[in-house]
Amino acid sequence: GEKVAVKDFAEKIKKSSNEVIGKLIKLGVMATINQEIDFETAEVIAKEFEIEIEKNVSKVEEKQDLFIEPDDEKDLLPRPPVVTVMGHVDHGKTSLLDAIRKTHVTEKEAGGITQHIGASEVMVEGNKVVFLDTPGHEAFTTMRARGAKVTDIAILVVAADDGVMPQTIEAINHAKAAKVPIIVAINKIDKPGANPDRVKQELADRGVVIEEWGGDVISVPVSALQGTNIDTLLEMILLVAEIEELKANPNRSAVGTVIEAELDKGKGPVATVLVQNGTLKVGDSVVIGTTFGRIRAMLSDKGKKVKQAKPSTAVEITGFSEVPEAGDQMVVVADDKTAREIAENRKDKIKEDQMKKSQRVSLDALYSQV
Ligand code: GTP
Ligand code: MG
Repeated sequence: GEKVAVKDFAEKIKKSSNEVIGKLIKLGVMATINQEIDFETAEVIAKEFEIEIEKNVSKVEEKQDLFIEPDDEKDLLPRPPVVTVMGHVDHGKTSLLDAIRKTHVTEKEAGGITQHIGASEVMVEGNKVVFLDTPGHEAFTTMRARGAKVTDIAILVVAADDGVMPQTIEAINHAKAAKVPIIVAINKIDKPGANPDRVKQELADRGVVIEEWGGDVISVPVSALQGTNIDTLLEMILLVAEIEELKANPNRSAVGTVIEAELDKGKGPVATVLVQNGTLKVGDSVVIGTTFGRIRAMLSDKGKKVKQAKPSTAVEITGFSEVPEAGDQMVVVADDKTAREIAENRKDKIKEDQMKKSQRVSLDALYSQV
């Protein structure tokens, strides 16, 4: 593990080196001011001073209040892929999804800019594929990170007339961090200024080397506007999905992630959740972060009422106490009472942590996160 010098540690906890050395000696550790001590020792010494330390304050504590039973291999069945479209602002992510869905979502968006993650299901040669749209505007980093986390495949859209831009790079990093395969869609090839080769070069410079250049990343030149090569792109998505061998257990209680959430004037708190495992049913008791409730109604991506949602399905749900946070995990529990208890415990814990925080000393700068 990492170590920290006595004098640096003393400074962090606002004690003199002599005081720290004194405590160390009491514990049978002969130390000088330049001696390095490990985190465990530092923790013990800090306790002597009635100070609580942690390696990294920003590190979120593991939620151990809810045990999600792992699945038996024999219970797993194939599930549809979740595909997230990512890339720089205005490079044509929503237009590409429009072309795939043959609808016209872009026209309805405020200023043509995507401000949320939309979910839609598309049938491709008899196979269901779930698509998530993400915003390219620089302000929506967390939404992109969230999208990358729940996805199985990332479609990286790069406009051929603009090339690799800051949010293209960000999207690459999110996909790599989430360890999901990338398929590059070089878009707007219909434009006079389109230069697909330059895009390929710029991607290679960023470690995304496409197949024709000896790498393993599939790339497809497309025009979302004219519908060029959309079929090829869809074929590639199915191909990559097949290699991934995606599975889930539909015969268990559901676990999912909130994609987006809001307070609807008529319906109350509303959330779009992606069911990742199990089957979500109307009437299920759920915990979502610090929120709880019972599923009152479910709507499919097409706005149709549904009674249940299997793995890899995005549904809009209602029936809980407060608006949950996008990115929160949704877990079905035994009954309303359990759901309420867990949610309330989490709330209490957050309050407690906030109170403790002022008393804590962060050793962030001394111990890097392991
Ligand atoms: P954000 O969600 O704001 O990040 O944008 P986006 O990536 O979803 O881009 P969007 O689909 O809204 O398209 C941006 C602009 O590019 C629109 O004016 C589209 O009509 C145009 N566009 C998208 N694809 C193509 C294409 O293949 N060719 C041409 N010529 N224009 C395109
Ligand atoms: Mg968009």
